[in-house]
Order: sequence, then C-alpha cells, then structure tokens
Amino acid sequence: MQLPDYKEARKRSSEEIKKEYYTFNQEFINIGLNKTYFIKTYGCQMNEHDSENIKAMLEQLGFVEKENYEEADLVILNTCSIRENAHNKAFGFLGRLKHIKTEKNKDLLIGLCGCMAQEEKVVEEIMKKYKYVDFVFGTHNINRLPYILANTLKSHKQEIEVYSKEGNIVEGMPTKRANKFKAYVNIMYGCDKFCTYCIVPYTRGKQRSRDKDDIIKEVNDLVKKGYKEVTLLGQNVNAYGKDFDYKYNMENLLEDVSKTGIARVRFMTSHPWDFTDGMIDVIKKYPNIMPSIHLPVQSGSSKVLKLMGRRYTKEEYIKLFDKIKTIPNVTVSTDIIVGFPSETEEDFQETLDLVNYCKFDNAFSFIFSPREGTPAAKLKNETTEEEKEQRLQILNKILNKYFLESNKKMVGKIVDVLVDGLSDKKGLLSGYTDTNKLINFKGDSSKIGEIVKVEVTDAKTWSLDGEQR
Ligand code: SAH
Ligand code: SF4
Ligand code: F3S
Repeated sequence: MQLPDYKEARKRSSEEIKKEYYTFNQEFINIGLNKTYFIKTYGCQMNEHDSENIKAMLEQLGFVEKENYEEADLVILNTCSIRENAHNKAFGFLGRLKHIKTEKNKDLLIGLCGCMAQEEKVVEEIMKKYKYVDFVFGTHNINRLPYILANTLKSHKQEIEVYSKEGNIVEGMPTKRANKFKAYVNIMYGCDKFCTYCIVPYTRGKQRSRDKDDIIKEVNDLVKKGYKEVTLLGQNVNAYGKDFDYKYNMENLLEDVSKTGIARVRFMTSHPWDFTDGMIDVIKKYPNIMPSIHLPVQSGSSKVLKLMGRRYTKEEYIKLFDKIKTIPNVTVSTDIIVGFPSETEEDFQETLDLVNYCKFDNAFSFIFSPREGTPAAKLKNETTEEEKEQRLQILNKILNKYFLESNKKMVGKIVDVLVDGLSDKKGLLSGYTDTNKLINFKGDSSKIGEIVKVEVTDAKTWSLDGEQR
C-alpha cells in the first residue's frame, strides 16, 4: 500500500527528470479476457488524454469497452479535484456503483484514479467509507495499471498505490484516441506556479517538459495517420522548456510543431506570466497555428490577483491582451473566479471593468472553491454564498453579451471549419472554426474530418449557424 502525502507533494526537488519507456508485461495478457470496461472521466483535457492511455492499456489486457457502465465488469473513475462539485459528482457516481455491486453484480471491479486519488483526505475516506472500491492509483503511476489490476485480482483486498512525488516521464504509452482527426498531445506535466487557490501543483507534481523530439515524433505520426488538429497540452504551456538545461522554449516548439505540416495547432493553457512576444510573432507567422488563445485572467483586481499568487497586475494583463489582439482575427477566451477571499464589491467591479475592456470571445466563470491544503483555503472569506452567486450571475450576463457580440461579427463571413460530425440538431453538421467557435451548418456529411468553407448565416451566444460553400 502506498498512500498520498501532501508534504511530499508540495516539495520541488532539483533532481533531474528521467525518461522511461512503457513496456507491456506479457504475463498480464489474459487479465481482461471476456471482460468489459467503462471509464468515467471528470476534469480537464489532461484527464481526457490520460483516459485515452488507460483505455489502451486495458485493451492490451483483453478488456473490451462498454458504452453503458451498468453492464461493465470493470468501472474506473478518472477524477478531478479542482472544485468541490467535481468531488461531489465523483462520490455520487461511486454511490451508484455501490448499488450495482451490492444488488446486481458482486464481482464488479471498481477503480479510482486521477487528481482526487492524490488527495490524502480522499484516500482516507475511500479506505474507511468506500471499502467496495477495489483499487486506487494516482496521476504519477498510470503506467502501473496492469500491475495494480493484477495485484487486486490476486489479493482480493483494496489496493492503493499513489505516489506523491512525480516519477519519470513515461514515453511510448499506448493510446486509444477518442477522435480520428483531432488529438491531444501532452507537452508537459505538472505545474510549479502554486496559485494560492489551486490544487493542481499538489495533484500533478513538479513541472516536467517532454522532450521536443518525442513531441515532434508524436505529431508527425499523427500527420501520417491523417490527423488534422493537435492540441498541445499542459497546465502552463508557455513555461514549456524552462526546466531544460538547454535553450528551447514554447516559441521554438510552436514553430517546430507547425512545420510538421499538421493543418491545425492549438495549445492550452497559457499563463499570462510566461507569454512571450516571440510566441506572438510565431503565431502570426504560421497560418496553421490557430488564432485562438485561452488566457485565464482569474480577476480584474490587482489586489486579488496578488493574493491569488498570479504574478501579474490588471494593467500587465491588459498590456499582454492588447499585444495578443494584434494577431489577425484572434479570439481570446478566459477563466474568472468570483468570491475569492477578501474580494470586495469594488474588486468585483474591477473584474467587470476588465471584462468590459477585453470583451472576451468565450469564458469559464467559477465561484471560488476552497481546496484543502492550499493557502487560499485558510484565508477568511466574508462574502456570503448568496453574494457570490449574485456576482457570478452578474458576471455571466455581461460575458454572454460579449460572446453574442463576438459571434454576430462573424455573420456573412466565410470561415474554415474542421467538420466534427453530425450536430445534435437533425441533419446538420457541426465543427469548429479556426477561432474555436462552434458552428452548426448545412453541409456534406462525407466531409467529416476535413476542413471546409462555411458561410456564417446566424449567431447565437454559444454557437454560429452556417451553410457550407
Ligand atoms: N492551468 C490553468 C488552469 C487550470 S484549472 C491556468 O493556470 O490557467 C482551470 C480553471 O479552474 C482555472 O483557470 C481557475 O479559473 C479555475 N479554478 C482553479 N482552482 C479553483 C478553485 N479553487 N476554485 C474555483 N475555481 C478554480
Ligand atoms: Fe493551477 Fe495556477 Fe498551475 Fe494553473 S498555473 S494549474 S491555476 S497553480
Ligand atoms: Fe481537475 Fe486535475 Fe485537471 S484537478 S482540472 S483533472 S489537472
């Protein structure tokens, strides 16, 4: 048994990051024979991509994917810790699984992994109250899944294997990609920013950049397979390469990924602190780097930003925003937290002022959720829940107004759309523009997976309508 330890997770050692290659142990080849699995994924794209690796590993063991969790022999929850409601959802789902296990299928195997598995308190709770969970593994040892499963089946006891210290970078993990033409590519793991509200540096460990050659090779392989779009993933992608002992940074990586010839390159998430002028130049120079930047601001009050440990002021954010806006046709989206400890009405008004200045094309807004073990969770918060809800509503109303405004500007234009598939609406296709706007349109369904020209005919708050040209 290996339990998570927050003190360990907080440490940042200067040890060199090593690389290892995933190997499949033939001994386990029949573990999943004639059995099915279902994975429930919460949280960010990083977790989505981890689930793609988990699926591929399970299929190497013989498991077959089931669409319905109620009929699966193995259910894994890949969890997220970012806010309280992500926790609640996962625990709620575990409750449903308990029901299935006690009423219908006593052999059901239940596993929990992802960011919640890295939390001391969660694992304590699983051990005490959720004894029907068969195994738990963390974000640093996903590659160990076959061993953990084998141990679980042998011991018939709850297996817990969570490491708090990040391990090696594992290359060559198998992947069952969810999409045939859009792919996630990790470029770095972990985060060293330690924003005071955020749990990610504890659940994902120290920042470790992947070797550029491994990234380029992965993108080249995707191009060969016919992929049209890659999203380079990391918690703070602009800091890519800062942990190398040679000079190679995000600007260089963007350029090299662009040169693979893949039709579309996206990246997320950008922390304003590390966004360089050089990156802006590269984005302008290469048409296959999409003009759509996610640039979380979190708050418009420099006082709150300081308490959040974001390392920029409102003015610095606006300066960077203005520079990014010099990229032709660029759209900028953001994340905003309301109700952070000590946020006054004036501070909140400053956030609204900033939104009125930036007129974001898209945004995610959240109420501050105290995460145990983070510095902000210890701060006194005098804003009532009602006030926080009210601020969120006021903010969303203004944000939505600008989303619609931004979409309306597109009407009458012809845009490039990567066709995702059939939209929910009858007979229509859906896809994303280069500026990352969702569009539903009349078009040729044989073009799924291709980039087509679409004329925008109408605009809604969260999507566009159009017709293929
Ligand atoms: N690495 C990204 C953010 C990842 S988390 C970045 O630095 O921009 C995604 C978003 O969740 C954050 O941008 C933030 O707005 C929100 N978030 C993170 N921790 C939160 C918390 N404790 N309460 C509320 N929202 C939070
Ligand atoms: Fe969290 Fe800040 Fe790191 Fe983003 S940059 S993952 S918000 S600590
Ligand atoms: Fe959630 Fe972990 Fe991602 S906390 S947002 S799944 S890195």
